[in-house]
Amino acid sequence: MRVLFVTSECLPYVKTGGLGDVAGALPAALRAEGADVRLLLPGYPGVLEKLENLKPLRDLRGMPGLTSQAPARLLSGRGVDGSTVYALDVPSFFGRKGNPYLGPDGKDWSDNHLRFAALGRTAALIGLDGDGGRGRAGWKPEVVHGHDWQAGLAAAYLRHPLWPFGDAKRPGSVFTIHNMAFQGLYPPDLLPTLGIPWDSYTPNGLEFHSQLSFLKAGLVYSDRLTTVSPTYATEIQGETMGFGLDGLLRARAAALEGILNGIDTDAWDSRHDPLLVSPYDADQLGAKIPNKAELQRIFGLAPDLHAPLFGIVSRLTDQKGIDLVVEALPYLVERGAQLVVLGTGSAALEQALAGAARRFPGRVGLVLGYDEALSHRLQAGVDVLMVPSRFEPCGLTQMYALRYGSLPLVAHVGGLADTVTDVTEDSLAAGTATGFTFAPVTVAAMLPAIDRALTLYHRSDLWRQVQRNAMGRDVSWQASARNYVATYKAAMEAAGQ
Ligand code: ADP
Ligand code: GLC
Repeated sequence: MRVLFVTSECLPYVKTGGLGDVAGALPAALRAEGADVRLLLPGYPGVLEKLENLKPLRDLRGMPGLTSQAPARLLSGRGVDGSTVYALDVPSFFGRKGNPYLGPDGKDWSDNHLRFAALGRTAALIGLDGDGGRGRAGWKPEVVHGHDWQAGLAAAYLRHPLWPFGDAKRPGSVFTIHNMAFQGLYPPDLLPTLGIPWDSYTPNGLEFHSQLSFLKAGLVYSDRLTTVSPTYATEIQGETMGFGLDGLLRARAAALEGILNGIDTDAWDSRHDPLLVSPYDADQLGAKIPNKAELQRIFGLAPDLHAPLFGIVSRLTDQKGIDLVVEALPYLVERGAQLVVLGTGSAALEQALAGAARRFPGRVGLVLGYDEALSHRLQAGVDVLMVPSRFEPCGLTQMYALRYGSLPLVAHVGGLADTVTDVTEDSLAAGTATGFTFAPVTVAAMLPAIDRALTLYHRSDLWRQVQRNAMGRDVSWQASARNYVATYKAAMEAAGQ
């Protein structure tokens, strides 16, 4: 089964959040299930620098949304894992350093609609006509699997092939929602520029409140829809978390499935993680302690190994509920705990956290920025990893924490609810307890969960038992990769393949 994975992020080339991790790890798990998966990525500097043996396959100048002058090519290269990766090389769109979506002013690049329409258009081109020039046999996917709004138009273009394709037998299309909050909304007068027919601009097509929605295009035109946890699949069919698209998702419920994310269990392995001062496993939890001491040193905290150490690794946005932690901080500190935060994002949250670090020196440590290596050290060094999100499609940091025996304290939403089992008398007895959950997502509900974590922390025998449960939990991609393969088959059938 040939699958084209269309994504705007992928480790180790480019990452701003969990999509990068997923695209970096899921293809390998799919290959282990026998699928022939190739990636199509925008030709960001980080992508072109890391691909080897780059070869031009097609000249894309003049494609809808691209001028006939500016260079635009489809390249193929060898990825870091040896697989074939396609790069959409349009230097005027992607040859920019820094964040893939935002300019240096922190605002969206003004041509994002063109940049990601080109990504979708190229995916459809490969899907309908293969990767070679016209008339040449090439690699042609049976399934095009798009991720998030940046790939949303791929499915629409597959349904509206304005390009003169030789063989227009359509591949199946699968669209994965990683976050309903990001939709790619643009003025409709761009439609002709993007080569999208006006007759698709209807409430049943890609119109959304008088705008053109890339996300909706993915949701309407794909054969199968998935999202990244079963609970989120249910939540987005309701008003609160559906971001205005819940009606559409209810209408498409039969095609929608929640498939839980896994993690890269090689990259996140406490026994062999080269970034840790002291690797450890579930049978030698004492070896986890030097990692805590190191973290306290890095973050300038008091070197107190008895103090329960809480931590956060996160984008600092409203979604992540970081403001709740800021509010709960005096309580945490009063109870003898410490907190370390690694994150970057909204200025208001960064300032609030910086204020907290000044107010509680030696107790609250903050690193503002993005630091992959430090995120590993943090996961290994903390006792409790907090994820108090207002909504969370899946969430990966709580799974890294489980794997590192750092107990997650999470809001009971989305994928957090599907991956963390609250410590209760029953779950302790059953050996399933892995962390602490709270609902609703309020400070009032979070404080008792913090209390429960602190109480358990002082019962070190039970704490270790829960750590071992957490580390024994299956967070690999294997089961989910099988679900994706089944979904691909369903999409191929729907497309008449
Ligand atoms: P989201 O995709 O919504 O940001 P996830 O939990 O799915 O949330 O994924 C976030 C990913 O980004 C994780 O791999 C996490 O470790 C990483 N991450 C987030 N913020 C930082 C940061 N400041 N430094 C390093 N890694 C970070
Ligand atoms: C999104 C979601 C996050 C999810 C990630 C990968 O960024 O916010 O919950 O884990 O995508 O699927």
